[in-house]
This record gives sequence, C-alpha cells and structure tokens, in this order.
Amino acid sequence: MKVMQSKLHNFILLVTILFPLSVFSAGPKTELMEQKWPFNGIFGRFDNTALQRGFKVYREVCAACHGIRHVSYRDLKDIGFSSDEIKSIAGEYEITDGPNDEGEMFQREALPSDKFVGPYENDNVARVANNGAYPPDLSLIVKARAGGADYLYSLLNGYKEFPEDYEASDGMYYNTFYPGNQIAMPSPIEDDIVEYDDGTEATHTQIAKDVTAFLAWTAEPELEERKSLGVKTIFFLILITIMLLGVKRKIWKDLD
Ligand code: HEC
Repeated sequence: MKVMQSKLHNFILLVTILFPLSVFSAGPKTELMEQKWPFNGIFGRFDNTALQRGFKVYREVCAACHGIRHVSYRDLKDIGFSSDEIKSIAGEYEITDGPNDEGEMFQREALPSDKFVGPYENDNVARVANNGAYPPDLSLIVKARAGGADYLYSLLNGYKEFPEDYEASDGMYYNTFYPGNQIAMPSPIEDDIVEYDDGTEATHTQIAKDVTAFLAWTAEPELEERKSLGVKTIFFLILITIMLLGVKRKIWKDLD
C-alpha cells in the first residue's frame, strides 16, 4: 500500500512539473533556420573576413535606416581594419558637436574615437520615414532577440508574399519569422546588392550570413576574450584538481 502511494505521489509530481512545460511549449512556433556559426561553442571565434564583408553590408544597406550607436569607428581595428582605413571611414560621417566658445553647436567630420553616427536626426524623423515604425539600433540586436544570430539570419531570409486570405496593412511586408508576421521593414537584401572585395559571391543567403556575423560581433566584441578566459579557467581548475588529489593521496596514504 505504502509503495503504491509513493508511486502515485511521484506520478502526480511528474504531471505537475511536465504539464505547465507542455503548455508553455505548445502553440505554432516557426523553427528558426539554425546555422553553424563559427563564434558559437566554447572555442568560438569570429572570422574577420566574414565580419568585414558584413560591415560592408551594414554600411551600404542597413545604415540607411539603422544605427549602431554602441560601436566606435576605432573598434573596427578588432576586425582587421587599419588605422588609416578607420580614419577614412570615420571621415565619411558628419557629427554635431559643441557647444563652442560662442555657445553654438557645430558640424564636424567624425573621428575614430566617435561612436557611429546614426541615419536620423531623431526618433520622430525615423518613424516618419518608415511608415510609423522605428528602425531599432542594431548594435545589440543579436543579444536582444530570442534566438540571437539564428533569428536575425532567419528574419533576413523570411520574406514571403502575403498569404491569400491575409488582412495585410498598408506599407507592411510579410515575414515568416517576425512575431505577428507583418513587418514595416521591406526585405533589405537581395542577390548582388553589395559587391564583395574578396571575390565572395554576394548571394542573398551569403549577405544575410555576413551581416548577421557582423552584428553578432557588435553585440559582443569581447566574446573571444571571454571564451579564451573560460577555457583557461577550466584548464586551471582541472590542473589544480589533479594536484590536490595527489596531495590528498600523499597525506592519507598511511591510513589506507
Ligand atoms: C528602408 C529602411 C530599412 C533598411 C534599409 C533596413 N531596415 Fe531593418 N528595420 C526597418 C524598420 C522600419 C524596422 C522596424 C520594423 C517594425 O517595427 O515593423 C526594422 C527592423 C529591423 C530589425 C528588428 C526586427 C525585430 O525583431 O524587431 C532588425 C533585426 C533589422 N531591421 C535588421 C536590418 C538589417 C540587418 C538591415 C540591413 C541588411 C536592415 N535592417 C535594413 C527599416 C530598415
């Protein structure tokens, strides 16, 4: 009887735990297009050539509507740009600085130490230009969205025609992966929208992959450092465990 009761208890416990879980995971959910990113896993590393291609895509396509305000021009050094290249990239942007001695704001060329200048003067201008929707800053977007890099990659590949019976709103586009499926951003990429300097073929999926990698870097430029510190720490802990085991054996050997 006792055994039966405890079995019943276990069963109830299991149902209590699993039921909410199954409810939680129910509902139509689109599977993301999962990719093998080189920056995932404990030995993850960024591929600088991919990041440089991704930066080109950001600069020539996404920068028309999105800023990356947490990134400075000089940060590009980390992905392999030289100081001269960085100076000339920064020089293409105008920044409002000031006030000067007369108390006035003034325009000047951006310097490598400045953060990336965004495309719009203010949020309202951004909304007016985009059918009322605000194009979010992209520097942290890979961290800010569930699914991270896979979500961004899927979003960029997820544009479709509106289904027949769908009530589409004006100026909106259909995207399989966007929550609610209607997004105010038109598909930003297509084959050959950029020309890569390293000869890589600029297909839609290649462009999506590269710009996603670039935005994964802007979201966590210190990823490589963090991972290599993690690996070092693990090695250190293994080593110290072996040493302590040795010491313990020595101290207790007479008692065996
Ligand atoms: C013509 C302007 C325009 C361009 C160019 C553009 N976007 Fe957008 N983007 C928008 C707007 C507007 C939104 C907000 C959409 C909404 O709220 O419905 C948006 C939203 C987004 C989002 C947020 C999606 C979410 O889950 O909330 C991401 C990510 C994004 N864009 C990435 C990109 C990337 C990467 C590029 C370049 C390859 C790019 N965008 C180019 C206008 C643009």
